[in-house]
Amino acid sequence: MPGIVIVGAQWGDEGKGKATDQLGDRVDYCVRYSGGNNAGHTIHVGDQKYVMHLLPSGILNPGVTPVLGNGVVIDLDVLYTELDELAERGAEVSHPLISSNAHVITEFHRTLDKVTERFLGKAKIGTTGRGVGPAYADKVNRVGIRIQDLFDESILRRKVEASLEQKNHLLVKVYNRRAIEPDEIADHLLSFVDRLRPHVADTSRVVNDALDQDKVVLFEGAQAHHLDVDHGTYPYVTSSNPIAAGACVGAGVGPTRIDRVIGIAKAYTTRVGSGPFPTELFDEDGDKLREIGAEFGATTGRPRRCGWFDALVVESAAKANGFTDVFLTKLDCLTGWDKIPVCVAYEVNGVRHDVMPYSQTDFHHATPVYEFLDGWTEDISGCRTFDELPANTQAYVKRLEELIGCRISGIGVGPGREQSILVHDLL
Ligand code: IMP
Repeated sequence: MPGIVIVGAQWGDEGKGKATDQLGDRVDYCVRYSGGNNAGHTIHVGDQKYVMHLLPSGILNPGVTPVLGNGVVIDLDVLYTELDELAERGAEVSHPLISSNAHVITEFHRTLDKVTERFLGKAKIGTTGRGVGPAYADKVNRVGIRIQDLFDESILRRKVEASLEQKNHLLVKVYNRRAIEPDEIADHLLSFVDRLRPHVADTSRVVNDALDQDKVVLFEGAQAHHLDVDHGTYPYVTSSNPIAAGACVGAGVGPTRIDRVIGIAKAYTTRVGSGPFPTELFDEDGDKLREIGAEFGATTGRPRRCGWFDALVVESAAKANGFTDVFLTKLDCLTGWDKIPVCVAYEVNGVRHDVMPYSQTDFHHATPVYEFLDGWTEDISGCRTFDELPANTQAYVKRLEELIGCRISGIGVGPGREQSILVHDLL
């Protein structure tokens, strides 16, 4: 029964909360399956705005059980800061479940993230600096620390020591930083044990049991397809698998349990950090999109790079993730342009590409081929049905559908929870 995955179709910040809002009270479990506190989900409830970096968005819905799956990397300082802040603001917070197999982000991961970026200079990835990459590197290198290790003090101390041995050489000899004391790290992690205990579970079993009981489980992806470590614009990617298949690995469910994959695409394109971005605008149109769309990172506050909709980028995400639906967000931000360019192909060294080239070098040299669609001037933020949209807006949506090869089931026309158009139900 309904296992629904929500995935970003571009480079993140597509406004995934919009689709979550549409599912509303019908969701029983909201599971984050990858990433850490590098994400930034903005949720508007009434006149209150909440920004969550680690917790799943379902945390604010008392009927939903929020889950941090095994594929997530958890900074416990951030986890409890977020929970405490929500409680302080009087939000009714659900009891999150945390996978015993999830890995932790510690001070040394954060330090390494920052020093490596500095060391890379111009070649830097532009990470969020939250220690996410180094924590995943440790996991794959089999020197990571899992949530369950915190419940066995002697194991924890041994693991922290082993993990730090090499890193301290690196920090001191290569990066010219002070060595980190293993006991300091272990003591800090141990200080969370009492608070953590009631939250820890075999979340794979919990989620599978929920699906057996016909509960609605929403797998909430952070980041996006093109930031995926395998499928994104490597090396300018995050260190995990945000794609839909990542939900199986990062939550511990089989592919047969996923019924629906909803891709979230912004009506234009944005990106933070480094990496190729063919439709990026460096002119006043780019500034205008940034201003109208309030395109500043929810985690780092960095201005986002802005550009026109790139159909090739979304089409390739639709293919690799098996999108059943697309939710198109921020369509209202395109109001007021006479013509709206949409990228329908690339030109690379005189050769036309109708799909994303597999070679990163080609992608770096891709020049967009634009189709210019008619714009609209009407305020669409009050529209609640597709038919209420101006004819040109409808035509824009229909053309994108053709180009990406997937139906557009939802449209965002403003930041408010109710400012959406549902063309097809998402459940
Ligand atoms: P990291 O995930 O902090 O290692 O950063 C790697 C890349 O992913 C950088 O380009 C970040 O800007 C990008 N990134 C990570 N999280 C997000 C997100 O939530 N939205 C958009 N970009 C992100």
